[in-house]
Amino acid sequence: MSDTKRVALAFSGGLDTTVCVPLLQEEYGYDEVIGVTVDVGQPESEFEEAEETAEALELDHYVVDAKDEFAALCFDAVRANASYQGYPLGTALARPVIAKAILDVAKEQGCSGLAHGCTGKGNDQLRFEAVWRDSDLEVIAPVRELGLTREFEQEYAAERNLPVEGGDEGKYSIDTNLWSRSVEGSELEDPSYVPPEDIYEWTKAPTGETLEIEIGFENGYPVSLDEAEMEPVELIEELNELAGGYGVGRSDIMEDRMLGLKVRENYEHPAATVLLNAHAALEDLVLTKEERAFKKQVDHEWSEKGYQGLVNAPLVRALEGFIAETQKRATGSVTIRFEGGQARPVGRKSKYAVYSAEAASFNTEDIVGGIEQNDATGVAKYHGFQERLANRVIDSEE
Ligand code: ARG
Repeated sequence: MSDTKRVALAFSGGLDTTVCVPLLQEEYGYDEVIGVTVDVGQPESEFEEAEETAEALELDHYVVDAKDEFAALCFDAVRANASYQGYPLGTALARPVIAKAILDVAKEQGCSGLAHGCTGKGNDQLRFEAVWRDSDLEVIAPVRELGLTREFEQEYAAERNLPVEGGDEGKYSIDTNLWSRSVEGSELEDPSYVPPEDIYEWTKAPTGETLEIEIGFENGYPVSLDEAEMEPVELIEELNELAGGYGVGRSDIMEDRMLGLKVRENYEHPAATVLLNAHAALEDLVLTKEERAFKKQVDHEWSEKGYQGLVNAPLVRALEGFIAETQKRATGSVTIRFEGGQARPVGRKSKYAVYSAEAASFNTEDIVGGIEQNDATGVAKYHGFQERLANRVIDSEE
C-alpha cells in the first residue's frame, strides 16, 4: 500500500463540491481526492454535469447505482405511511443510502477521509455524518468548517479557473431523486412569496381532467399498477410521470429542520402521494380501530427517525416489528382518482377486509354471529350512564 493520502468526496459537480476538491488538498493535506456520485434517481443531466466537471478537474470519479436499494427503502416508508410535516422524506431517506455507498467506495479505494459539501445549516450534514462516523475514517465538511459563503466560493472558483459554469446553477437549490424533488432558496425563502409555476418540473398545473388507476399491494408493499406487476423503481418512475401529469404531489410547507431552523420548502412527489394515499386507504379497510390509532404513533416515530436520517436506529427496527405484523393483512388493491391535483382513494378491496356486508347492512335482521338488532338495547341503556350521574352530582351542588 502506498502512503498517498486519499479522501472520498460526495460529488455532484455543483459549486460546493467543486471548490471542495482543491480545498481538501490545500487545507486538509490530502494528496488525492476521489469523487463519488450515487445514483438514487437523479435526472441524467446531473450525471453529465458531475462527469464533465470531474473530467475538467482530473478527478477520479465513481458512479454507484443505488436506485434499487433506495426504492426498497421508499417502500418501507410507504408501509410506515411516512411523512414529516407533509414531506414524504425523499432527500432524508436518500442520504443514508448515499453515505453508505460512498463509505464502501472509500474503503475499497484505501481512503482515509470522507468529505461532503453540505453547509452547517441543513440536515444533510447530520445524515451523512451519522453514517460516516461509524467508521474510523476522518470526516471533513469543508464548507461548514471553513465558513464558506456562496460569494467566496464563486470568487475562489473564478480565481482558480475551476470548471463551474460561471457559478450559475439557476437561482434555486434543487435536490432530486426517485421519491421527491425539492426546490428551495432565492425568493422562495420568504414564506409569503407565492411560488411561480416555473419552479415545478414534475407536475403540471391541475386541469379539469381526471383519471382512475388501481394500485395493488402485497403485505403493504406496492406491487402493481392497473394489474400489471412492476418492480419498485419502475413503478415509482411510472407514477411520477402519470400522476405528475395531473398535478398530483405538490407541497408547500413550513419545515422545522433538525437544528431548529424553520424554513419554507417546496416539493414535488407524485408517486409518493399516490402510493401513500393508496396504502393508507388499504390499512383503513384491513386494520382494526385500535391498530389504526396505535399505528399512527408508530408511523410518526418512524417518520421522525426517517427525517433524521437514522433509519437504522434500534427504535426503527422495533417499530418495523409492529409494522410487519400489521402488514400481513395489507394485501389488496385501491382505486385512486386524480382530480384537481389530488390523488383520492375512491375504492378499496382486500380479502382481509375487517368488514361484513351483512353486518353493516340495514336490510338484515342478524348482525353477525347470532347477535340481533335488539341486543343493542342494553348497550343503549348504559351508554352515557356515568356522564348522566356525574352531571346530576354537579348540578345538585349548584
Ligand atoms: N429540507 C429537505 C430535507 O432536509 C430537503 C433538503 C434539500 N437538500 C438540498 N441540498 N437542497 O430533507
